Formats: sequence, C-alpha cells, structure tokens
Amino acid sequence: MTKILFICLGNICRSPMAEAIMKHLAAEAGRSDEFEIASAAVSEEEWGNPIYPPAAAILRQYGIPYDGQRIARQMKASDYEKYDLIIAMDEANIRGIRRIAGGDPDNKIRLLLDYAGEHRNVADPWYTRDFETAFDDILKGCRALLAALPRSKAQ
Ligand code: 4NP
Repeated sequence: MTKILFICLGNICRSPMAEAIMKHLAAEAGRSDEFEIASAAVSEEEWGNPIYPPAAAILRQYGIPYDGQRIARQMKASDYEKYDLIIAMDEANIRGIRRIAGGDPDNKIRLLLDYAGEHRNVADPWYTRDFETAFDDILKGCRALLAALPRSKAQ
C-alpha cells in the first residue's frame, strides 16, 4: 500500500483536483487497492471549506468523480510519518511542508511535475482563473506518478 498526500496552499483547488484525478486514474487501471490517496494544505487559510466551485466544475467536465463533502484541512506533522509520498504542487508548498514536518528526513517530499520530467510548478489557477491549464498539468503529473509506482499486490 502506497500512501500519497497531495499538498497545495489552500487545499481547495490544486491538491483536491490531484486527489480526485489520481484516485480516478488508479481506479481506471484497476489499482485502487494499492493506494491511499488524500490531500491537505500548507496554510490554514481555507480550513473547513469545500473544493472551490471552478475546480469541481472542471473535474465534472472531464468526468472525474470527487467528494463534494470533503473539506480543506492543513497538513500536520504526523502526516509526514503516515504518508509515503508528500507531493507538492509548487516549490513554495515544499517549503511549507518542510516547515510543518521539520525537514524531510525520510526523503518523502516531491514536486508533482518532476514525475513528468518537468521540474516546474503546476499552474496556479487562483489568480489566473485558468483551471484548464492547472487540470492539464495535474493530469500529466498524476499519469506519470502512477506509471512510476510499481504495481503491487493489495495488502
Ligand atoms: P490552492 O488554491 O492552493 O490550489 O487550493 C488557493 C487557495 C487559496 C488561496 C490561494 C490559492 N488563498 O490565497 O487563499
């Protein structure tokens, strides 16, 4: 079982999209049992808020199920122990994760698009309102992430 925690600033746009997309890709591949997938924020800005409506809309547009009941939460230090991979949407998130976790002693922190061979941030739709480009980046990263994780028997 690989436990994956996606992280962004507010946990209402990019990381919930990544959570939904990765769950969907794993399900399509018949690999849902191999993963535990969740998301959280580095900030406490949006704590308790649901997925942002335009992020939900683009998931619906592409036929990707998401949990309309889930609410944003901030990452806690114990998440670092719990999850195998802590996957950030941008470099600022990585600094936030390291602050919360007290560093990265087990080398668990990754930048999502590194899996796709692109060392850059996922496009942030918060100011641009461009949810399409964010979706494309996240889909590309999640496809590469799934391909990078060895197929294993469910535990
Ligand atoms: P997210 O988007 O990090 O992708 O969930 C944002 C949400 C809230 C803010 C910024 C980005 N904010 O500044 O409150």
